[in-house]
Amino acid sequence: METRTVTVVGASGTLGADIVKALLEKGARVRAMVRATSSRTKLESLGVTDFVVADLNDPASLQRAMAAEPRAAAVVASAAGFSAHSARTKGDNSRADTEGYRSLVDAARDAGVPRFVLISILECDKASQVPHFYQKFETEKYLAEKRQPYLSLRAGAFLDRARDIVPERIRKGVFPDIVPGVPMALVYSRDLARYTAQAALELPASALNQSVDIGCDVPATGAMVAAAFTRVLGRPVVAKPAFPRLLFTVLPLVTPFLPRLRDSLAVVAWLRKGGYVSSDPQKQRELFGDLPTVEETVARYCRDKGLV
Ligand SMILES: NC(=O)c1ccc[n+]([C@@H]2O[C@H](COP(=O)([O-])OP(=O)(O)OC[C@H]3O[C@@H](n4cnc5c(N)ncnc54)[C@H](OP(=O)(O)O)[C@@H]3O)[C@@H](O)[C@H]2O)c1
Repeated sequence: METRTVTVVGASGTLGADIVKALLEKGARVRAMVRATSSRTKLESLGVTDFVVADLNDPASLQRAMAAEPRAAAVVASAAGFSAHSARTKGDNSRADTEGYRSLVDAARDAGVPRFVLISILECDKASQVPHFYQKFETEKYLAEKRQPYLSLRAGAFLDRARDIVPERIRKGVFPDIVPGVPMALVYSRDLARYTAQAALELPASALNQSVDIGCDVPATGAMVAAAFTRVLGRPVVAKPAFPRLLFTVLPLVTPFLPRLRDSLAVVAWLRKGGYVSSDPQKQRELFGDLPTVEETVARYCRDKGLV
């Protein structure tokens, strides 16, 4: 069978590298779109040799990346300007998730890329108070408006966060709980990576042009996740607040000077309202099979992180 090329935008990120791995496992040829400053070490160790240098803030570079030969059968967009990882690169990242993503959609459409898989965020259309969540919804609308065939995977909260602090805390018997008592949709990024590879390579065209919520079978509180760790590891793990409550009283006083912090606080405030749950798990079931339970997800995570 012909080997298909998939371009991964944000390949040097946490999820991006997992997506690359999942695509390679399915026999795809991966083209990693990276910035000139991106680290390629992990991607090279996975066996990636096709790199294309481009920046979301540079439309001409995106046109070149999308027009590279052999033409890509799909583009996966996992890049995020608003993230602790991306902030390590100096320069203005504020336009990457807005104008940058629009330029990427334009470049994909101009190059005739047959499908665009967007890594989006659960309930982004209802999160107007959180700019980097709502910008995903703006990109979904732009994809539809430009008639670029797409599938948007609206992911819940990653069990493994970008700076994965969970394993070291779990070893000490603690699950860091961002919003105590509030149930959230949870996803392990390797599961999301697998769905993404399926979306890029295997789903029929009839599955495109919609957004799909991605998470476990039920929303889980931190206490429920800690209980799952306890069962999987056979030793006690308790949920403890990731941040002291006092912090949320003090921080708003300084946010006018720190826009990133302001956005992060908006995320926590939004999560506390309990809206970070799937309103339609059926689509995920139809496209990707039965939803994993929280315990299955935690068990896979523990195995992969060497916790068991
Ligand atoms: N964390 C969660 O709970 C969660 C939940 C739902 C959805 N998501 C979404 O999942 C996706 C992946 O998240 P992640 O935590 O894995 O991301 P990440 O590790 O922060 O990686 C971000 C990626 O974006 C790239 N990037 C940033 N600015 C760019 C620019 N101007 N041009 C080109 N590339 C640029 C970075 O490249 P460099 O290496 O060069 O910096 C990096 O590859 C994001 O879209 C995020 O919104 C996350």
